[in-house]
Amino acid sequence: MGKKVVITGVPGVGKTTVINRAIEELSAEGIEYEPLNFGTCMFEVASGQGMVRDRDEMRKLDQAQQRDLQRSAAQVIARSEGNVIIDTHCTVKTPKGYLAGLPEWVLRELMPDTVILVETDEDQILKRRLSDETRVRDLEGYNDILEHQQFNRAMGAAYAMLTGCTVKIVKNPDFLLEKGVEDMKDILR
Ligand code: AP5
Repeated sequence: MGKKVVITGVPGVGKTTVINRAIEELSAEGIEYEPLNFGTCMFEVASGQGMVRDRDEMRKLDQAQQRDLQRSAAQVIARSEGNVIIDTHCTVKTPKGYLAGLPEWVLRELMPDTVILVETDEDQILKRRLSDETRVRDLEGYNDILEHQQFNRAMGAAYAMLTGCTVKIVKNPDFLLEKGVEDMKDILR
């Protein structure tokens, strides 16, 4: 059985960028990880059923629909063998409040070894979101993003209590992507 590492972070923090670099560099060392995007697994089911047109619409679906999609994604991902990195969210900001990205029944399917929280300063996240025209990002200010990052830490602690996994914070600040990638590789080795 391989390692299961969950990577989380608020939208636009750069988690996918850090993961892709870390996987590429570790592969050159002979350490292989399969990247799995939880949102993509959910989106394949949601778009197949005509529920959404793009991935940013998923967090606006009603709670029961999002839960069903989470369950389907967790079941697909749990079947993976070897080392996997699961790119997802500690919490998802929905119109009705924070939804746990990994509620208990999802955690039970996944049983991660480690949960990583990728973070950076709120103003940098705001800037990265504004410059990404490929996505329909929520319009949020500094304090909203601060609250979301704080809430994610609290939720990460709950995941550790439920599963016995470790929780690690990796910083991904502007101009210091390399450092974030190095920290990520140290956890994955
Ligand atoms: P998901 O696919 O995870 O989308 P996202 O949260 O919007 O994340 P992104 O991949 O767009 O952002 P990122 O943080 O990875 O940043 P990126 O590397 O692109 O989720 C989509 C949807 O799926 C969610 O909204 C939700 O509805 C659903 N979902 C997923 N998991 C779920 C779950 N468990 N339960 C329920 N729903 C779930 O980088 C962003 C930008 O920053 C880029 O331009 C990049 O070049 C730049 N950047 C990165 N690092 C740096 C740096 N160090 N310095 C300067 N710029 C940088």
